[in-house]
Amino acid sequence: MRRAILLTIAATLFAAAALAQEVAPVAPETVPQAETTLVDPTVGLAEWQTIHDVFAHPRCANCHVDDDHPRWSGAHYGETRFHAFNVQRGADGSGFGNPGMRCMTCHFESNSNVLHGPPGAPSWHLAPVEMAWFGKSSAEICAQIKDPERNGGRTLSEVAEHVRDDALVAWGWAPGPGRNPAPGSAEETFAAIERWSAAGAPCPID
Ligand code: HEC
Ligand code: HEC
Repeated sequence: MRRAILLTIAATLFAAAALAQEVAPVAPETVPQAETTLVDPTVGLAEWQTIHDVFAHPRCANCHVDDDHPRWSGAHYGETRFHAFNVQRGADGSGFGNPGMRCMTCHFESNSNVLHGPPGAPSWHLAPVEMAWFGKSSAEICAQIKDPERNGGRTLSEVAEHVRDDALVAWGWAPGPGRNPAPGSAEETFAAIERWSAAGAPCPID
């Protein structure tokens, strides 16, 4: 009888010890460590680099200018230069061009299949001046993306969704014959923005 009780106690202690052992390594680590990882700037800065390489790519930056001229650039165009035909943002500031030289006079809903033919996507026009990346540093582009005053009033999630879903952005990865696409894909850039945001959205200093 006594032996049986002792055995039961021993078994209970053993089970409790086993349980404690299973639980012990998990409990102290999970919560605090996850938080430390989230604010580690090196994690976020690596994500930013991926995002920057897309945004600063000519297929994106040539529409995101702070003056009146869309740019042409890349091997297919020769030296980076102003868009030919004296194409401009438009006196009304809309980004759709001046009357008689509207972007959509030449740029249709899809790409011309001909080399040097006009590329296309729905509602082709320049981004507003405050969303400029062309010729800007990584730090400047980073600050712009995060600033709702200059990014169209978007949260970072909304910026990520715009990159995933917008037709003009999508064109950057399917730019038509002779033009190099932006690196990666819309889906990968969306995911990088989400991870950058979760890591505290750090900006480089330059
Ligand atoms: C044909 C011109 C054009 C091209 C090419 C283009 N954009 Fe834009 N972009 C625009 C316009 C116009 C807006 C403003 C739309 C709005 O605010 O609703 C914009 C806004 C944005 C915004 C939201 C505002 C901000 O600054 O955060 C993001 C993000 C963006 N573009 C990313 C890209 C990326 C990434 C590429 C390349 C893969 C690209 N765009 C290529 C015209 C363009
Ligand atoms: C008179 C016709 C015409 C008008 C108007 C026009 N474009 Fe173009 N655009 C072209 C042609 C043609 C190309 C392709 C040239 C080539 O590939 O050699 C082009 C190419 C582009 C490119 C691709 C450049 C690159 O490096 O990827 C962008 C961006 C662009 N145009 C923006 C605009 C914007 C914004 C407007 C209006 C403000 C506009 N265009 C108005 C004819 C036009």
